[in-house]
Amino acid sequence: MTHEIIVAPSILAADFARLGEEIAAIDAGGADWIHCDVMDGHFVPNVSFGADVIKAIRPVTTKLFDVHLMIAPVDPYLEAFAKAGADIMTVHAEAGPHLDRSLQAIRALGKKAGVSLCPSTSESAIEYVLDRLDLVLVMTVNPGFGGQSFLGSQLEKIARIRSMIGERPIRLEVDGGVTRDNAAAVAAAGADTLVAGSAVFRGGSANYAGNIAAIRIAAEAGRVPKLQPGSARPMCAGEGARIR
Ligand code: DX5
Ligand code: ZN
Repeated sequence: MTHEIIVAPSILAADFARLGEEIAAIDAGGADWIHCDVMDGHFVPNVSFGADVIKAIRPVTTKLFDVHLMIAPVDPYLEAFAKAGADIMTVHAEAGPHLDRSLQAIRALGKKAGVSLCPSTSESAIEYVLDRLDLVLVMTVNPGFGGQSFLGSQLEKIARIRSMIGERPIRLEVDGGVTRDNAAAVAAAGADTLVAGSAVFRGGSANYAGNIAAIRIAAEAGRVPKLQPGSARPMCAGEGARIR
């Protein structure tokens, strides 16, 4: 038995002037989750959007909102993102001194909790919080911008984290420079959830379904068995989504 591959387009690469239409298009094109990149110009050298934008786009789709918080501090804003409609909230291990507290706060808000690791951060940062996690996000670029090149150095980290996760029901997500050309290697290393911005949104909305399918097919081909029958199962594509 293997984890179902999840493809999560990053709306950072969408046309912001038509954000609602863009989300509807990736929804129709087969996106499993909607990846929302929140940047503060402090933790990362770019500013994107905040909770009000997430609240505004929430009614556009029933797909799970995978909210990647590249902000520091993060704790004061968790409640706002939860109320705005986040399903998963992922904080950076580097963003504050009390990761365990941040993860407890996310679950106390009734949300799935994730941790993201920058490329220079060791997987040891999550060793003592694994049981508080629903998702681990390995950055394969330095966070802050879409359209950067994939860092192959992170494949070894992905494999190590896959091993650390063991049979826990934790999603292993990869974010940054993911394309149809490296998706197989990412999945072979142990990732089961692939974020892609540029590689999904290129070519206009007529191409979104094909772009998503190409990433999924490549990842499916590369993946390796990870779960034994009867073992714990992580979130699937629709779980956590709102029914409207
Ligand atoms: C980078 C973001 C990524 C990014 C992905 O800081 O976290 O989600 O938007 O975009 P691509 O796929 O273009 O690298
Ligand atoms: Zn992201």
